[in-house]
Amino acid sequence: MTQIHAMAAPKASRKAGGHTSIRPSPITITLAVRTPTSMCGENQRTTHRADSSHRPFHHCRTATSPNTPAPTSSTANSIRAVLPGPLGSKTAHSILGFVTSEPIDLRSDTVTRPDERMRRAMYEAEVGDDWYGDDPTVNRLQERCAELVGKEAAIYVPTGTLANEIALHVFVRPGHLVLAPAGSHVSGTEVSTAAMLSGIAFVELDAPRGQPTAELVAEALRPDPYDVAAVDLVSVENTHNVAGGTVMAVDELRGVRKSCDEAAVPLYVDGARIFNASIASGTPVGEYAAEADALMFCLSKGLGAPIGSVLCGETEFIREARRAKILFGGAWRQAGVLAAAGLVALEEGPDRLQEDHANARRLAEGIAEASPGTLDPSAVETNIVYVDTASVGVDPWDARDRLKDEGVLCSVLGGKVRMLTHRDATADDVEETIRRWPAAMSAAGMG
Ligand SMILES: Cc1ncc(COP(=O)(O)O)c(C=O)c1O
Repeated sequence: MTQIHAMAAPKASRKAGGHTSIRPSPITITLAVRTPTSMCGENQRTTHRADSSHRPFHHCRTATSPNTPAPTSSTANSIRAVLPGPLGSKTAHSILGFVTSEPIDLRSDTVTRPDERMRRAMYEAEVGDDWYGDDPTVNRLQERCAELVGKEAAIYVPTGTLANEIALHVFVRPGHLVLAPAGSHVSGTEVSTAAMLSGIAFVELDAPRGQPTAELVAEALRPDPYDVAAVDLVSVENTHNVAGGTVMAVDELRGVRKSCDEAAVPLYVDGARIFNASIASGTPVGEYAAEADALMFCLSKGLGAPIGSVLCGETEFIREARRAKILFGGAWRQAGVLAAAGLVALEEGPDRLQEDHANARRLAEGIAEASPGTLDPSAVETNIVYVDTASVGVDPWDARDRLKDEGVLCSVLGGKVRMLTHRDATADDVEETIRRWPAAMSAAGMG
């Protein structure tokens, strides 16, 4: 192994006026160069596994195109070799133009990559055919989920969207309505899908924090005196994504349940992030599920699985749900390969969500300090942070682009910059994001 010294490449920074300036980086980096067997192949983009932790890959991209001759000197070849972890690849934007660091990805909690244990479980998974119901790993996951939430049965599907659509299809007759809080996934993102697949529509409730009270639900469920508008289902979202990852307390859910019972309308919980709600409130998921006729949760979000969601309910409901799943094209054959990772996610995932919540709160505090008035850190209840950059004159899309220039990925939702913490975004990544935030905002025109 050889040691070489390299200057970090000059970093291009975008200035408010739109022009690009070159800012030399002050840091000197010592590269531990690996033996030729660990080097990238010639003239190709190559991704290497860099360490044995769950952090999946450092990307080692050659700067050469297929037609460009490869550097031949031993130094150039050395620099094209894998850069191992301790350097902190996310902080090194570019080294001699050959290596591009991974950005800090806060676009969603779905971006986590499967860890080593999940990958091993997937490799070793025993599989069958889920259409026939004989994939043993899928069946094990479904049984485990049903047991965990205290329902009779569960069904494993590729996405939370499909779980929601199946539930809506089973509960609601065509031409009938679903009562849901404003901004909820079912009534927003899925509104056209629900119309297409099931011929149903939504009545949105304007609820504080996206969490309806028993009174609001009771009022909205008053029978239509003309007997035309018929509500077949009440749906709540816990945590509520667009409202900022807000948690519904189980007592509130009990109140909503009572209102539903009085109107003889079933209650559905879109619990894509119910484990975040559970950890934040100290309420076992089963206590939430006990109030719902059916509940869905995602394995692919905070729990860290690569894919998959689970719909839980009574046996007869799940029997119908399975039929809808197959009719909608969701029979996914040897899905045990993925269910195996889901089982690991269920084991490993919930306990570490507290860390995501603390990171989100810290991120919010750092941003509030740098850009006062853009958010209230005390309103961050779980792992979702919304920043109202428009309130300080910065277009959120522009903020997103400038953050990307700084190596931080976020999304924009409801006119705000949205960032989620997750297993693959460490406390250091959060500090780094806070450090880069002012440069992005001033490039976007604030300051
Ligand atoms: C509350 C909620 N429900 C459902 C979904 C859909 O999940 P999926 O992306 O797995 O389709 C999401 C996705 O972000 C969500 O936030």
